[in-house]
Amino acid sequence: MSAPRLAFTHTFTPGADPAAKSERTLLLLHGTGGNEHDLVPLGRTLAPGANLLSPRGSVLENGMPRFFRRLAEGVFDEADLRRRAADLADFVAEAAEHYRFDPARVTAVGYSNGANIASAVLLLRPGTLRGAVLFRAMVPLVPDPLPSTDARVLISNGRVDPIVPLAETERLASLLRAAGAGVDVLLQPAGHQLTQADLTAAQAWLRGESVLSS
Ligand code: MLT
Repeated sequence: MSAPRLAFTHTFTPGADPAAKSERTLLLLHGTGGNEHDLVPLGRTLAPGANLLSPRGSVLENGMPRFFRRLAEGVFDEADLRRRAADLADFVAEAAEHYRFDPARVTAVGYSNGANIASAVLLLRPGTLRGAVLFRAMVPLVPDPLPSTDARVLISNGRVDPIVPLAETERLASLLRAAGAGVDVLLQPAGHQLTQADLTAAQAWLRGESVLSS
């Protein structure tokens, strides 16, 4: 077997019971300017027993890590996005082999730019993620043809987000539903920053409880 490339700088934190190889793994994807450490405490709060795989985005924008290039705020470099989504999907598969977690039980938790790369992976490499929690997410790209996925997705966006226009939430939900995903949408009375309500809802959703779709 060739050595894994594990091409992303990352952290991996095993779940509560490292012997339980079928335990869920959260793929933590930070926002612009973040790093692999940012979302680890959040991941532990959201799913105390899960493995946490947390890569750092390998694109730098004025020194700030991101998961793909953008041409302007909200205007994405689609060729780069496609390539980076493939790289991330490959990384997850290689990490599953290396750390011996179940590649069929990976749920992404992404914030902002991290949510957008998670959606791109859902749409371009649908076998990679069983589900995703997308905080402050927008449509990353519209693939043609659409893939087919049975992923479960929670979109938790802010009603007064200066970066993500309100209409983007419904566009993204419709796109993911058209691809076959089961999508719950929450609109928080918030801007781009996460609030306690985002976390409480995501925690319940990850436990399989229903959250009110708005
Ligand atoms: C960000 O600041 O990260 C944007 O809102 C989302 C993105 O560029 O992917």
